[in-house]
Amino acid sequence: MDFQSIIRESAGQGIVLLKNEKNMLPLGEPDSISVFGRCQVNYYKSGTGSGGSVHVPFSVNLLDGFENLKKEGFKIPALNQELIQVYKNWINEHPFDSGNGEWASEPWCQVEMSLSDELVKAAAAKSKKAIFLIGRTAGEDQDNKAEEGSFYLTKTERENLRKICDSFEEVCVILNVSNIIDTSWLESEEFSGHIRALLYSWQGGMQGGQACADILCGKKSPSGKLSDTIAFKLEDYPSTKNFGSAEDEVYEEDIFVGYRYFTTFAKEKVQFPFGFGLSYTTFTQEVQKYDFDEENLYLEVKVTNSGSRTGAEIVQVYAECPQGKLGKAARVLCDFAKTKELESGKSEIVKISFPVKNLASYDDSGESGNAYSYILEEGIYSLYLGSDALHGEKILSKNGKIADGSEFTVTKTRVLEKLSQCCAPQKEFSRLKAGNQKSDGGFELLSEKVPLSQENLGEKIKANLPKELGHAELVSASNPAKIQFPDVVKNPALIDEFVASLSDKELMTLVRGEGMMSRKVTAGLASAFGGISQSLHDRGIPAVACSDGPSGIRMDNGKEASLVPIGTLLACTWNPALVEDLYEALAKEMISKNIDVLLGPGCNIHRSPLNGRNFEYYSEDPLLSGKMAAAMCKGLARSGGIGTIKHFALNNQESHRRTENSVVSERALREIYLRPFEIAVKEGNARAVMTSYNGVNGHKSASNFDLNTSILRKEWGFTGLVMTDWWAAMNDCEKGGEASGRNMSYMIRARNDIYMVVVNDTAESGGFGDNLPEALKNGSLMRSELQVCVKDILLFITETYAAHVPLRPLKSEITISTVLDSVPAGVKIYAPEEYATDSALSGDMYFDVPETASYEVFGGFIKDGGDTLSQSISNVLINGESVGSFECRSTNGVTMYSVAVQLVLKKGVYKINLEHTKPGILVQCLCLRRERLSPISSGEYE
Ligand code: BGC
Repeated sequence: MDFQSIIRESAGQGIVLLKNEKNMLPLGEPDSISVFGRCQVNYYKSGTGSGGSVHVPFSVNLLDGFENLKKEGFKIPALNQELIQVYKNWINEHPFDSGNGEWASEPWCQVEMSLSDELVKAAAAKSKKAIFLIGRTAGEDQDNKAEEGSFYLTKTERENLRKICDSFEEVCVILNVSNIIDTSWLESEEFSGHIRALLYSWQGGMQGGQACADILCGKKSPSGKLSDTIAFKLEDYPSTKNFGSAEDEVYEEDIFVGYRYFTTFAKEKVQFPFGFGLSYTTFTQEVQKYDFDEENLYLEVKVTNSGSRTGAEIVQVYAECPQGKLGKAARVLCDFAKTKELESGKSEIVKISFPVKNLASYDDSGESGNAYSYILEEGIYSLYLGSDALHGEKILSKNGKIADGSEFTVTKTRVLEKLSQCCAPQKEFSRLKAGNQKSDGGFELLSEKVPLSQENLGEKIKANLPKELGHAELVSASNPAKIQFPDVVKNPALIDEFVASLSDKELMTLVRGEGMMSRKVTAGLASAFGGISQSLHDRGIPAVACSDGPSGIRMDNGKEASLVPIGTLLACTWNPALVEDLYEALAKEMISKNIDVLLGPGCNIHRSPLNGRNFEYYSEDPLLSGKMAAAMCKGLARSGGIGTIKHFALNNQESHRRTENSVVSERALREIYLRPFEIAVKEGNARAVMTSYNGVNGHKSASNFDLNTSILRKEWGFTGLVMTDWWAAMNDCEKGGEASGRNMSYMIRARNDIYMVVVNDTAESGGFGDNLPEALKNGSLMRSELQVCVKDILLFITETYAAHVPLRPLKSEITISTVLDSVPAGVKIYAPEEYATDSALSGDMYFDVPETASYEVFGGFIKDGGDTLSQSISNVLINGESVGSFECRSTNGVTMYSVAVQLVLKKGVYKINLEHTKPGILVQCLCLRRERLSPISSGEYE
C-alpha cells in the first residue's frame, strides 16, 4: 500500500461506531442524505500545536470523500446539493477561525451556522436521512474546558440538532473531534429518539474525511473500539476534581484510571465502555484453547463472522485478579488481537499469549510482605473474553478442555520482579482502594494513606558517580591523529577513546541541542544536535535533525509533508501491525527529507478527558498505549527513522504544564503512567526519550534521577538518548526545589543527556548562560558525568540515518543565482552591513551586493506577550524565493539577534522581504552582511 492508502486505511479502522439503531448505517445508493455542520467542509484533520502542525499539500474533507468514492465506482447515497451550497456560501462569509495565528490561539470550536426551521424542513423534504457533524479541536498549551464549545455542545449545536431531529427520523451524529466530548444528550427526549447513529470519526489526518465517507457508505465496516471510557458525566471521572492545578496535582484516584475505576466502583456511570465499538456485521468468539505455565498464558480464540458483511473483530482479554492485600481493579486488559477482514461466514483462529506480568501488581508499601516488587498475589485469576471492559464471558478452561473450571491460580504469592523504591511521594495524601465486594459485583470504595519515600536519594546518586574516561590532553598527546567519529560508527567500541578526546567545551556543546529551525539541518524543524559546531563537525560528527511529531513532519517554514491520524484514533484501531506499517511509511518520508528523529509517539495516559493533548496520546489503558507506541517505534525503525517516546512522565495536563508537580504513588506511577514507556522500550526498542516539563513528586522530570537513571536505564535497560522537552527547567536532583533552565548540571547528573534547545548557533558559546562551566569548575558536576551523557548522545548518533550518509555540510548555503533585472526608481538601496529598520521592514528592501561571496541575512527581533513557549516565524524571501526564517518564542522584551540564512550571492541587486507565517515577531532591524565566522551574539531567554 502507498502512504496515502495506509493513512486512509488506518483512519478508517480507528472510527468507532457507538450506536446504529435499526441499521441506519451504512448509507446505500437508494438513500438520500442531508449533511449538516460546517465540518463537512472544514473537516478537522488533527489537533493543534507541535503535534498537529503539519503543512499538508491537501486534505480530504467529508464531501470530497463522497465524491472520491463515486469516482472509484462505489455506490453512494444522493447528497442534498442545495444544502451543501448553503453551507459553502455561509462558510465563505464565516471563514475558518484559526485565531490570530499565534501559538495555541485557534479556538477549540468554530462558529456554526444557526439552522432555520425552513432550511431544515426543506432538507427533510429532499432527503430521508440526516448527518450532523460536530467538530472540536484541542492542542498544546491549553486544556479542554468544562464549557460549551469545548467539552459540551454549544447552544447553537444543540438547537440545530434538535431542529434536525424534529424533521428527520433518522439522524447520524459524527464527532469529528480530538478528544472525548460530552454525549450525555444522546438519549435526551428533546431529540425524539431520532439520533439513530453515533460515531467518533476523530481526526484522521489528511485522509480523515475520506475514511469517514468509506465507513458511512459501507465501503468498510467499522472495526474501531474505544480506547477510553465514556462516562455520562465529566464529574464521573475520578480525576476531574483534582485536574489542572498549577502546583501540586494529586493523583488521588491512584491506579483507578478509566475503566479500572468504573468496572470496580461505578459501572452505572458508564455510557460507553472502554473497548466498545459496533460493526455492520456480527461476530462470535469461541475459546478453543486456554493454557498457562509459570511465565505466560495462552489462548486460541475462533472468531467467526456471523453477519452478512465483511468486517474485522478484536479479541479483548481481561483479567479479574484476586484483591489480595494490595487491592486491584475489577478488570485489567491483559492482551488483545485484531483479526484480518473476514468475509461473511469466515473464521480466523486468533492466537494470543501474554506474560503473567500483565496480571501483576506493584507493592509500593510492603503490605504483601514484598515491598517494591511486582507480585502475583495468591488467589484465582479469572480471564474474560470481552466485547468491552464491562461485558465479557469468563473463560473457564485449561489444557484445551473447555469449561472444566480450572483457572490460573497462584497458590502462594509470587515475586516476579524485585525492584527498589523510586520516585515515591514525599507529601502525604490518600488514595482510592477497593474494599469488599458488594452484592451487585462492584467494590466498596475505600481510601488509604499513600506510602512515602524512604529513599536516601543523595547516597544513591553518589554511589552512581562514574569514573572519568581520561583527559582530552592525555589522549590527544598519545594519539595526536585522534580517531574520527566515522571510526566510532564502524566500531562503537572506540566510543570511550573518542569521548575522552573531547575538550570540556566540546562536551558542553554536545549536550546542548539548538533550535528551533536550525540552519544546520532540514529547514523548519524543532532541533539539531550533535555536530553543530565547527570543531565537532571537523571530528566527523553529523548534525542530527529532529522533527515534531507525532502525526507527521512539522516544518514551520511552511514546507509540506503528510499528516497521519491522531494517536487516539490509532489506538482505536487496536491494530499495532497497521500502525507499524503507517510509521514505516512516515519514516520513508522523513528519510527523504534528511530527518533522523521524530518527536513522537506520545505515551502519556488519558487520565482525564480534559487534557488538551490527549489526541497525541493513545488511551487510558497502559497496555494498549504501550503496544501502540512500540508499534510506532518499530515501524519508524523499519525505514531507518527513530521515534522519541514522550513526555516522560505524567504530562497529563496542558494548563500549567511547566509548573505543575504530579503527586502520585509509586504504584500508580509504575503500573499506569510509566508502563507504556516500559513497553515501548522493552518491546518497541525505543531509542529516544523526551522528558516532560512537570515535576514528579517534587523532582522535575528533566533532573529526576530515579526516572532517568534508576528506572529507565537500570531497571529497563534503556541504552538510548534522553532529551528534555523544549526549554525545560530542572531542579536539584537530590533536594528538588526551585527550577530553572540554567540548571543543566542537574540534568546531566540525572542522565537526561541533552538540553533542548538553546538559541541557534549558541551551543558552543554557552547557550543561554547555563551553569555547566561553573559546575565543572567548582566540582559540583564531574567531568565524567558529562562524558557519560555525551557517550549516550554519540552512540545514539551512530544509529541515526545521518551517521550513515556522507557528512552533512555544517553550513547549508543557498546559492541565489537570479539578480533583479530592474529596481523601482527612487527606492533606497542598502549596502552590506547597512541596517534596514522601522517601516522599511514591512515592505520590499533592496540590497546591492558588490561582489560574489557568502552572505548572511542577520536581524534583531523581539516578541512580546504569549507564553514563553509560543513560537512565531518570519520567513525571509529573496527575489520572491523563501530562503530561511527568523524563529522565536517570547523574548520578554529583550532583542534577540540571529542569522536567518547563509547564502552565496552573485554581484547584483536583490530584493528581500519578510513574510510572517505567524504573527508576533517584531523584526527591528535587518541587514545583509558578509559572513562572520565567530558565533553570533545573542540576547537571553529566561
Ligand atoms: C512540546 C513537545 C515538542 C516540542 C518541540 C514542546 O513544547 O511539548 O512535545 O516536541 O515542543 O516542538
